[in-house]
Amino acid sequence: PAPGWSIEADVVVVGSGVAGLTAALRCAAAGRRTVVVTKARLDDGSTRWAQGGIAAALGDGDTPEQHLADTLVAGAGMCDEVAVRTLVTEGPDAVHRLIGTGARFDTAPGSDEIALTREGGHHRSRIVHAGGDATGAEVSRALVEAVRAAGLRTIENALVLDLLKDAEGRTSGVTLHVMGEGQHDGVGAVHAPAVVLATGGMGQVFSATTNPAVSTGDGVALALRAGAEVSDLEFVQFHPTALYLGPEAEGQQPLISEAVRGEGAHLVDADGTRFMVGQHELAELAPRDIVAKGITRRAQEQGTEHMYLDARHFGAQMWEQRFPTILAACRSHGIDPVTEPIPVAPAAHHASGGVRTDLHGRTTVPGLYACGEVACTGVHGANRLASNSLLEGLVFAERIAADITARPVRTPGPPVTPQGPCALLLAPEARTTIQRAMTAGAGVLRSAQSLGEATKALIRLQRQADGPDAAGAEDLPGVEDHKAVEPGVEAWETTNLLLVARVLVAGARAREETRGCHWRSDYPERRDDLYQHHYMVTYRPPYT
Ligand code: SIN
Repeated sequence: PAPGWSIEADVVVVGSGVAGLTAALRCAAAGRRTVVVTKARLDDGSTRWAQGGIAAALGDGDTPEQHLADTLVAGAGMCDEVAVRTLVTEGPDAVHRLIGTGARFDTAPGSDEIALTREGGHHRSRIVHAGGDATGAEVSRALVEAVRAAGLRTIENALVLDLLKDAEGRTSGVTLHVMGEGQHDGVGAVHAPAVVLATGGMGQVFSATTNPAVSTGDGVALALRAGAEVSDLEFVQFHPTALYLGPEAEGQQPLISEAVRGEGAHLVDADGTRFMVGQHELAELAPRDIVAKGITRRAQEQGTEHMYLDARHFGAQMWEQRFPTILAACRSHGIDPVTEPIPVAPAAHHASGGVRTDLHGRTTVPGLYACGEVACTGVHGANRLASNSLLEGLVFAERIAADITARPVRTPGPPVTPQGPCALLLAPEARTTIQRAMTAGAGVLRSAQSLGEATKALIRLQRQADGPDAAGAEDLPGVEDHKAVEPGVEAWETTNLLLVARVLVAGARAREETRGCHWRSDYPERRDDLYQHHYMVTYRPPYT
């Protein structure tokens, strides 16, 4: 449908996590007419769920150079060193500016000094945290309050559909599907020469994830349809320690922060043995991919689905003061970490890849920017270092705002891209099929066979979505299941999940090696001679 309403702006920011709100605040402060659109409420999304914190070289004796070294090791040969250097050198000031915006972080007992903790892959305590284990909630609170205080125009319950471009191929805005927001209900458009994608991740592509329900890969799917370059989707980070709630558990799973291990919790197997000791010099605090692999291997050896995190030695007082959110989540599921080990298993957590950008957050489409988890700035490589993501959102959002506001406002030509929201629609129930196929075929451990099975399931869904009228569809299995569905948020989200899942699996099949968080049972070695490069994807529909 053609947009039923439109708004004119200089900048439209899509998403309201740390990256989106930071970019929006800085653009608005420089006098640009800025509109923030977000799929649910302003404080929904992944930022709010972040527990551990923000990594920055703020401690005595710590330096950006050491933070750089840890980040490069975790990234397994795939980081862009210049991007990482930018992140770690600009990081400490960005954290101080966030404090200036109103965020309050925990301090060391009896002092004004920011308290720092450790997480996997860090050789130093450099993680800033708030409310013990509720860092993201505090960051979100501070930024949402600042956005409200600054009077920024915001539209909630707005699912972004597609990028609009003018006759020269430059960005001229986005189309949206909005529900329950009065005069802006239904499909509409925000016309603007600069669009900042800050839509977060795609954890919902898998059955079990630490991500909230809104993380459906909408930004990457939009960027693909707009012809922007996307890369590294095969590098999905599985957090080693989500609370294990049984083999049938689906959707968002409670996270047991790596900071719990940073404070001294032990990973033990069914016999109570600390199985990470001897596997890596940092044992439980090895980079995340190594711990996720260690858990998966030991669970396979013992014929079980999970391991345990034992932090009984913290005692009740430390649990209550340092990890109140996690304590409450465990207790709400009938587990008391003060008296028993916590059952844990890996769950999809963070997309290290995404929409390819340069150091200013610019994508390959003029006027389209990306930052935060939706972006692939090069700082994470094949495996993100813990707590580098809120930092990435902060640092690169500021760089994007600086790039946008340093240029005169451009008046885009009228949009010439089709005004239809998406090429495809898919029945919402297809979502479960995608998630199960991806968890079975492209989860923590992959092989040519498992990825092949996932591909078959996704192609069948694609044919169902394309329907019997698609070119050459007559004899294709799957087409017979085509069902016309009403355009709506769920259908569009499912369409997006299918598109990003297909690109992710294609990258995972092509990468016949094990590197970072991409683990192939049939190619267990890292092959720098063959695969130390990025798979750049641009989409030319139909994607086959
Ligand atoms: C955690 O608290 O373990 C998550 C931190 C992160 O993903 O960076």
